[in-house]
Amino acid sequence: MSSAAPIGVFDSGLGGLSVLREIHALMPGESLCYVADSHYAPYGEKSVAQICQRSVVCADWLVEQGVKALVVACNTATAAAVNQLRVRYALPVIAMEPAVKPAGKVTRAGRVGVLATAGTLSSEKYESLLRQHAYHVTVISQPCSGLVEEIEKGDFESVALRDLLSSYLEPLLRAQVDTLILGCTHYSLIHRLIVELVGEAVAVLDGGAAVARQLKQQLISRQLLNPHPSIRPLQCWSSGDLKKQQLLLQQLWSHPFELNYLPPKP
Ligand code: DGL
Repeated sequence: MSSAAPIGVFDSGLGGLSVLREIHALMPGESLCYVADSHYAPYGEKSVAQICQRSVVCADWLVEQGVKALVVACNTATAAAVNQLRVRYALPVIAMEPAVKPAGKVTRAGRVGVLATAGTLSSEKYESLLRQHAYHVTVISQPCSGLVEEIEKGDFESVALRDLLSSYLEPLLRAQVDTLILGCTHYSLIHRLIVELVGEAVAVLDGGAAVARQLKQQLISRQLLNPHPSIRPLQCWSSGDLKKQQLLLQQLWSHPFELNYLPPKP
């Protein structure tokens, strides 16, 4: 495998761009490929079997493009499919998880809120994270049905988005959490709105920067870090409506990109 090969990243939609931005900020010389499975979003309320099947379609496509590492930029897909992906590919597979470990260290009041999809919160992986890293704190887990769909519309100022988000934050604020975990990569795209609604006193954490650091370490240890800065635009594929995706990408990715349709599996 050549160090000049791209890094492959996928998500159920454009939420993974929050992770992609961290990867680009940390390793600006790397070529990046991104799959947004927007036609099948949200993953959060699908069965584990459906999420595994779609994750394999996205990851297979990236592997066919010759990527040197895979990043599962989706907490829901990680919870459902990462074990299967790690068996399937002989590549480093870096995956997301809600930032429970750092939150357990940061909280002073011992009250932590988690916003995530129903799929993530009901998973065995999440249970195990809580057992290992949050046994000493009170965790209030809030599933956010419909929030990914609102974010995918791309209007981060909309009243509908603000109202839905407020309804999910309200029980956490009532419980006086001092630390809030964004356990879905889509939610990081509305970080500013979340901070505005919870106030500066609440620490808002996500896992994007940690994933970028972990990816960099893996690339260094396998001598796969690209020593030559890349000038290739981001290569992006989507299973959704390309016109809408183009507009959203322009809004969320401030560098050159090429967007194409993710071919359906024959
Ligand atoms: N960005 C995905 C995550 O991190 C969203 C899941 C969904 O599509 O429901 O969980």
